[in-house]
Amino acid sequence: MNTLTNDNVKKQIAIITGADGGFGKEFVKLIIKENVDEIWAIARNADKLKSLSEEFGKQIITFPMDLTDRKNLNVLQNNLNDGVKVKYLVNNAGYAKFCAYDGISLEDSLNMIDLNVCAVVALGLICIPYMQKGSRIINIASQASFFPLPYINIYASTKAFVRNYTRALNVELKSKGVTATAVCPGWMKTNLFERGNVGAEKGITNFAHIKTPEAVAKKAFKDAKKGKDISTYGAYVKLTRLLSKLASQKTAMNIWLKQQKIK
Ligand SMILES: NC(=O)c1ccc[n+]([C@@H]2O[C@H](COP(=O)([O-])OP(=O)(O)OC[C@H]3O[C@@H](n4cnc5c(N)ncnc54)[C@H](OP(=O)(O)O)[C@@H]3O)[C@@H](O)[C@H]2O)c1
Repeated sequence: MNTLTNDNVKKQIAIITGADGGFGKEFVKLIIKENVDEIWAIARNADKLKSLSEEFGKQIITFPMDLTDRKNLNVLQNNLNDGVKVKYLVNNAGYAKFCAYDGISLEDSLNMIDLNVCAVVALGLICIPYMQKGSRIINIASQASFFPLPYINIYASTKAFVRNYTRALNVELKSKGVTATAVCPGWMKTNLFERGNVGAEKGITNFAHIKTPEAVAKKAFKDAKKGKDISTYGAYVKLTRLLSKLASQKTAMNIWLKQQKIK
């Protein structure tokens, strides 16, 4: 018997992007309690990653890297081998910009797509060969994925991609026994707002029904373990999801603009 292909002797790992704070760190807290040998924690800020490993111990393996740089995706790929089973992949790193289409540069617009979409797809494709029955992909989409949203347009569009991509991927992975869950949180208290606010005249200011990332992550992880292809938390997000099936996109965009007091 080839021991390297024996599930029992493989090193079980979790990979979490954007792990050094906010929503990602909540997944570190949850997954550290699971039976994994290592958590590969990815983010750009090396100091924050170091603090994370000091807080959670030697199970945390840090990868300080920018996921919008394709060379770094190769680094991750080169660290995987047949002795490893990826039990969890949490594609969490992402950001928004609260402004009109011309409020940020072309480079920044494309960078948001590179992180929110391309890195999510790439990490999935890199990790799936090292996943086995019971492995879970958890892709962070958003409540913003349910409708086109002016003044947060690219962000909402990237999250619509993540939601649709993940649900279809879940179907394709069925025969492998691997599940993919699209997590669609509403507003959560994290640093997303700091990075999102560019001081635009027409910006997003109403963050209704904001939740703690801890509560949302707990529900998301539970849903992922059940193999659900979508995870929502709270009545407001569930209502938005229902509306996406009943209301026209035009109506929804008008409600959104009224909510944000944008004329
Ligand atoms: N907060 C909300 O209201 C909300 C609602 C719905 C969905 N979400 C989604 O939740 C996810 C987590 O966001 P958050 O709310 O926790 O915001 P956050 O506190 O700003 O966290 C973002 C994380 O992504 C990392 N990151 C950013 N750019 C990166 C890059 N280029 N390469 C690698 N890592 C990068 C950040 O670390 P470094 O800065 O060290 O790189 C940080 O760990 C995102 O996908 C976001 O869209 C958030």
